Amino acid sequence: MDLDKILLELSSYEKKLLLTLDELGGSGSPEEILAKGGFKKLVEIMNASSWLRSKKLVEIKEDIKVKYYVDVEGEKFLKEGFPEKKALGFIIKQGGTTSLRDLGSVLDKNELTIAMGWLKRKRWVDIKKEGKEIFLYVTDEGRRALESETWDEKILRTIQQKPGVEVEKEKIKDLLSRKKVIKEKEVVTSIIFLNDNGRKILEKGLEFKEEISQITPSVIKKGEWKNKVIRPYDIYAFSPAKHGGKPHPLMILINQIRQIFLEMGFEEIEGDFVESCFWCMDVLFIPQDHPARDMQDTFYCKNPSRLKIEDENFLKKIAEIHENGGMTSSEGWGYKFSVDESKKTILRTHTTVNTIRYLYKNPLPPSKVFSIGRVFRKENIDATHLPEFYQIEGIIHEENTNFRQLIGVLKEFYRRMGFEKIRFRPAYFPYTEPSMEVEVLWDGSWMELGGSGIFRPEVTEPIGIKNPVLAWGLGLERLAMLKLGLTDMRNVYISDLGWLKNNPLIKKVD
Ligand code: PHE
Repeated sequence: MDLDKILLELSSYEKKLLLTLDELGGSGSPEEILAKGGFKKLVEIMNASSWLRSKKLVEIKEDIKVKYYVDVEGEKFLKEGFPEKKALGFIIKQGGTTSLRDLGSVLDKNELTIAMGWLKRKRWVDIKKEGKEIFLYVTDEGRRALESETWDEKILRTIQQKPGVEVEKEKIKDLLSRKKVIKEKEVVTSIIFLNDNGRKILEKGLEFKEEISQITPSVIKKGEWKNKVIRPYDIYAFSPAKHGGKPHPLMILINQIRQIFLEMGFEEIEGDFVESCFWCMDVLFIPQDHPARDMQDTFYCKNPSRLKIEDENFLKKIAEIHENGGMTSSEGWGYKFSVDESKKTILRTHTTVNTIRYLYKNPLPPSKVFSIGRVFRKENIDATHLPEFYQIEGIIHEENTNFRQLIGVLKEFYRRMGFEKIRFRPAYFPYTEPSMEVEVLWDGSWMELGGSGIFRPEVTEPIGIKNPVLAWGLGLERLAMLKLGLTDMRNVYISDLGWLKNNPLIKKVD
């Protein structure tokens, strides 16, 4: 523990408290400290003592004390006498004996019950049944009791005179057993102690200089800072965490990705969730019997179940490409193209539909566009699969692009995302040739993050594009898992408030 540093950072309240404790011989209650005069309010002492406690210079012990006060019945007893004493007085006045009935004429019903109970318990009377009547005979103890103040009367009077006195519980057991005679209150008092560190600091000597603990405009304007000491802050002092509103971690990540592509000179595009098979698949030279088109893999929409294909000519061209390669040098897939299949309505299965639609509308180079959007696949949900997820899609359409540039752009994107080690593996997609998969090294193993390649002539030529177009579609959630330290993809979407609150807005860069 660096006591010198702690000494420097002590506030004037803390110093005052240490000095007062020293004067009090090392310990004191907040009230005793207040009485010494250095503080104006108790709360100042409470604050200073908890700061000093967190700096490990003092200890605070809490002491629970029970205090007693006279309650309503007790007040009545003190004014009118205890019911048993009243009864005793009557019996003695009657010559030492009375019938219960006669006693009942001077005490009310409630008092009579109490009086009878305590007369017996205190052995002030003997009770005898004669015929049908009950008689009370005063005892010697009873006679003595009438002459003096009994112990319970004495204690009750003491409590009345000194409200809040501490009395041994054993002594007032009987009074406590009576209804509403005395009130108990638990009072927590704390005692603040100097510990060894606190004493050591005091030995170092506390200097009382006028300090500036907060820089205000007036401190600067009046130049007070020139001749006063500015108290250093302890930036590691504990304070409760405050959780304000903030964007979801996934949104923060999406914005970061968006920023990277914008900075790399790309423009953002968007598209619709609902698409036709034509745009999502046929145009991309995905054969109509491709397994990805299966009902098991794709969400087909019921209403409308078919969508209109605006450009009849283009539809014809694509049909020919599939059947025999059309105007390209390709042989096509060699099957009978179904227009009905083309018109089927689906939820987009990849965002490559966004980039191909963009190329169709903007066939002239150069263009560099990207999209970050949701896609839908009929996946069973587990730790690494969701039926709805994001893709980071992009294309580069320029006159002299090549495969090396594709590798370079993807490497650069992942480098900016914080992944230094990435590698590419050959892959297959019906719409790109060559095709490759991107993998990043994370925690010692390679993670597949997406696909990429150069669009095939069967895709670009019907649109009228002669240049190679670089294309990629990358997964977002896997990237999110790596960046957010999750092992289950579902947690990205589960609103675990604790996790959301503790996820920093800005991550510390190692
Ligand atoms: N669309 C592919 C997928 O969903 C990714 C991809 C996009 C591959 C563009 C090549 C080119 O996995």
